[in-house]
Amino acid sequence: MSKHLRNQLLRLLLEQQSPYISGEEISKQLGCSRAAIWKHVQELRNQGYEIEARSRNGYRLISKPDRIAPEEINFYLQTEVLGKEIRYYPAITSTQESAHQWALAGAKEGSLVIADQQTTGRGRLGTSWVSPAGTGIWMSLILRPNALLKFASHFTLLAAVSVFEAIQSLSSYPIHIKWPNDLLINKKKVCGILTELKGEQDRVDYMVIGIGLNVKQNDQLPSHATSLEEAAGKQYIRAQVIAQILQRIELCYMEYVKEGFAPIRKRWEAGAQSFFGREVQAKTWNGVIKGIAEGLNDDGALIIRSEGEKRIIYSADIQM
Ligand code: BTN
Repeated sequence: MSKHLRNQLLRLLLEQQSPYISGEEISKQLGCSRAAIWKHVQELRNQGYEIEARSRNGYRLISKPDRIAPEEINFYLQTEVLGKEIRYYPAITSTQESAHQWALAGAKEGSLVIADQQTTGRGRLGTSWVSPAGTGIWMSLILRPNALLKFASHFTLLAAVSVFEAIQSLSSYPIHIKWPNDLLINKKKVCGILTELKGEQDRVDYMVIGIGLNVKQNDQLPSHATSLEEAAGKQYIRAQVIAQILQRIELCYMEYVKEGFAPIRKRWEAGAQSFFGREVQAKTWNGVIKGIAEGLNDDGALIIRSEGEKRIIYSADIQM
């Protein structure tokens, strides 16, 4: 039985409504022998699936591991374009690196690189991103928007608002956006987004949106960071969270293509209410600017009122 058939077997077990599905039913649906089913049940068990087998009743899935391989994500995915091609790695240096290589080799819009662990995960402004095995969502999405380079920051904000809304739909605790695209819970960072792109003259050739979301608490998390599970006090199925994020990005992206930046900006501002009107420090390449965060301009840049003057910030590390 091929890997494809094993995935189909897994899908049957995941979708099973009544307690058991008989070996006969599986072999009818998948067109394979009972012996082949048994062999692949054993393989799924080796991957961490707990499957009960009863000679009279058939098979029943009791519990599943928190895996993020494509077959797991596909089970939850309802998108049209995003995540239709996935490259999954148990461990990798950085999903950003791999996504750039794939994009240069012609990856389609919506292709996704995802890893269970990153050994040298990258953060914004030259920082590193701690990405231990099995604890988070480390993924890079390739987009090919028909956009001018000067609008690239719209996509950074679009990604932030999408992840923000995806998390909101899965939980009820307060979450906030900090410009440009950090997500905070209880003033601690739970998600960071790194947008990188390649341009052709004045247009975007492709964009790689790297999302790092801490799902499980782990002792490598820095003190200024938190995880979804710590905030919610419950467990998450990472594959489901990934599917939800892709779904939101797709909706926002379609909205952007149809209606431009205005609706995204409105929703971003709704998520960043606690940020505006506050005293902030922006560490830019040219020095530190202190002032009150006032809003966004049409490019998505941050407006800071500093000593009576309006300063426009395109890239900075913000302290509040
Ligand atoms: C930040 O500094 O806030 C951005 C962090 C982005 C981390 C993600 S994890 C997946 C992707 N691969 C990387 O190496 N970085 C991004």
